[in-house]
Amino acid sequence: MRLTVIGTGYVGTVHAACMADIGHEVLGIDIDAERIASLSAGRAPIHEAGLSELLARTVASGRLRFSTSLAAGALFATTHFVCVGTPQRSDSDAADLRFVDAVIDGLAPHLRHGSLVVGKSTVPVGTAERLARRLAGAATGAEVAWNPEFLREGSAVQDTMHPERLVVGVTSERADAVLREVYEPMLRAGVPYVSTDPATAELVKVAANSFLATKISFINAMSEVCEAAGADATVLARAIGADSRIGPLFLEPGLGFGGSCFPKDIRAFAARAEELGAGAAVVFLHEVDRINTRQRLRTVETSRRLLGGSVMARRIGVLGAAFKPGSDDVRDSPALAVAMALQEQGAFVRVHDPEALDNARAACPELAYALDIPKACEDADLVLHLTSWPEYRRIDPVALAAVVREPLLLDARTGLDEPSWRAAGWTVHALGRPMRRTPELASGGAS
Ligand code: UDX
Repeated sequence: MRLTVIGTGYVGTVHAACMADIGHEVLGIDIDAERIASLSAGRAPIHEAGLSELLARTVASGRLRFSTSLAAGALFATTHFVCVGTPQRSDSDAADLRFVDAVIDGLAPHLRHGSLVVGKSTVPVGTAERLARRLAGAATGAEVAWNPEFLREGSAVQDTMHPERLVVGVTSERADAVLREVYEPMLRAGVPYVSTDPATAELVKVAANSFLATKISFINAMSEVCEAAGADATVLARAIGADSRIGPLFLEPGLGFGGSCFPKDIRAFAARAEELGAGAAVVFLHEVDRINTRQRLRTVETSRRLLGGSVMARRIGVLGAAFKPGSDDVRDSPALAVAMALQEQGAFVRVHDPEALDNARAACPELAYALDIPKACEDADLVLHLTSWPEYRRIDPVALAAVVREPLLLDARTGLDEPSWRAAGWTVHALGRPMRRTPELASGGAS
């Protein structure tokens, strides 16, 4: 099939390359000419596992090309995936739909008769219907469908090629048939396919993100109670996660969620529910957001407490800048927010990250950065573990103790092996854990 993918950010670039790889002829479109030039040369604009190879391969095959022209896209294909960003508005919690609207308006005059416009961007429920009305004016007989993506940064290619489910919101059998043809290899492999109306499809995405964000904030709320009660939130998480109705994933206590999706999506969802008169149903999302923000404050507070009440002129080595491991993305990164807050309170903060240093430098030029872990921790009075990169679990605490001024660790991701750090002479504090560990009754670590 011939497809266009409009918007070559995270979702669009991955979707375009994956669609070309499964055999479609794809034209990727973006208004950013520099990005299009680099994509046309087969270069990935983002750090994402497997994406560079995939882009190089599909561009070389000729099945993936790029353009800055929506008019060219409208002529190239009759199926168009819209993957532009829907950031938070600057004046409210609602989603800013100006990029989506601009794509629709740019396509409308050029669309071939009977085209299908498929939204992938995360949008407020009702958007597909609104866009369909907008397109109706152009009298092209074009239809609008919604097909949310669920890809996670760091495993975006894998998630697109082997999704856990495909969700399409359509208003005709014809649109459903087009989308079944697009995803034919996935359907053949047995991926569950949920075909529904556009409003339900739009809601599936925000409901899934809201549920996951709630799960993270739930365990972080428990972690606050555990800390107050002298209990251990990591043991608690393991114990409740063993119940198959709860499940162990997204139950890691710590600094909480960030990134380009969860924070803005739960706010936009609450704002949209409010508009629909259903705000009361999702009031809890405000609390989910507040609990999440509080983890950053807790980390800053605990750092101050560990340093005797003030961080002024103290050296702090920060491990991690990306919003999560496996990504170089620092958008709404909890790690950088903590690093900045400590620096603003007078600490000398030096940040390490295996992948996100360039982006972190651009976002927070006022912080100091180090290319390796010992350099970030040199002469530190306190070391903070803020992004759970696997590299940090491999740190030799004995060697690191030799470079710091004070072997004092705050593990805000509860991912480091406390006993081995303690054995190497470190004083270790972890969010949601008592300073001295209680015995792990009836857990994997107990005997
Ligand atoms: C998320 C959704 O998972 C994805 O389906 C959607 O399409 C986009 O948003 P992503 O932003 O890539 O994907 O990150 P994800 O892996 O879901 O993690 C989100 C945040 O939650 C990260 O900051 C992560 O560190 C944090 N997190 C995750 C926790 O704090 N605790 C956990 O137990 C799990």
